[in-house]
Amino acid sequence: MPNVPAETIALITGANKGIGFEVATQLAQRGVFVLVGARDETRGREAVDTLLAQGLHAALVVIDVTDDDSIARAAGEIDGRYGQLDILVNNAGISGGAGGSPSEITRARMRQVYETNVFGVVAVTNALLPLLRRSAAGRIVNLSSGLGSLTLSSDPASEFGRYTYLAYQSSKVAVNAITVAYAKELRANGIKINAADPGFTATDFNNHRGYRTVEQAAVVAVRLATLPADGPTGTFQDENGPVPW
Ligand SMILES: NC(=O)c1ccc[n+]([C@@H]2O[C@H](COP(=O)([O-])OP(=O)(O)OC[C@H]3O[C@@H](n4cnc5c(N)ncnc54)[C@H](OP(=O)(O)O)[C@@H]3O)[C@@H](O)[C@H]2O)c1
Repeated sequence: MPNVPAETIALITGANKGIGFEVATQLAQRGVFVLVGARDETRGREAVDTLLAQGLHAALVVIDVTDDDSIARAAGEIDGRYGQLDILVNNAGISGGAGGSPSEITRARMRQVYETNVFGVVAVTNALLPLLRRSAAGRIVNLSSGLGSLTLSSDPASEFGRYTYLAYQSSKVAVNAITVAYAKELRANGIKINAADPGFTATDFNNHRGYRTVEQAAVVAVRLATLPADGPTGTFQDENGPVPW
């Protein structure tokens, strides 16, 4: 198990359950102090208590990624308490509901999904970047999806070739583009940012229809969150390596 420098601090958004909670667990098991990001204080507190009961180091940060005031409060709280951040995992995401043809989608549905999955990632990243710049090894991981691969979703032979989840798929394509754009700006600062594809995973997100476990899903995000100094930036990866854009 790779180790991490002492006092490494990570914020994981949407970490009260699902893949985010497992990423928090696996990072904490590697010695990282994890800030469990949760929009609901009660659900977040329960998640933190579960980690503390395992002897892991964790604290709660209430953060709703669609709410600029909430994001600013969370950033101010982390600054005041710790003065820096080493790892940011932009995990919070919504599907916006399954099905519906592109021709039937509404502006409201598009906005709802983009508020969380796209604008939320940018707003949270920008609010936390001043703290990440103070880290000796800042790392950002954006949770993307195989559905965000244009190569795979336009290939009828791929498992993603048959889906037409316009809002969700295009939001994850945007997450990939966001990852590439930040990588260019942050390369000079030594901050690495990569997109992670966790695979189709059994969580509330898909009523537990996924065929992968959260333990498997978290592996790639944890690896990208703990990359060494010579690790990549601006990539899209699953646990086996690069995923086509
Ligand atoms: N499961 C899969 O098969 C799969 C595949 C590819 C990619 N992903 C991606 O992986 C990430 C995690 O998915 P998951 O399967 O773990 O989903 P999940 O079990 O539904 O968990 C989603 C988490 O995001 C939080 N969240 C939603 N909206 C939020 C907001 N506005 N502010 C803060 N937190 C918010 C939820 O909080 P509440 O509990 O308060 O709702 C929850 O903690 C998502 O980005 C998803 O797109 C999942």
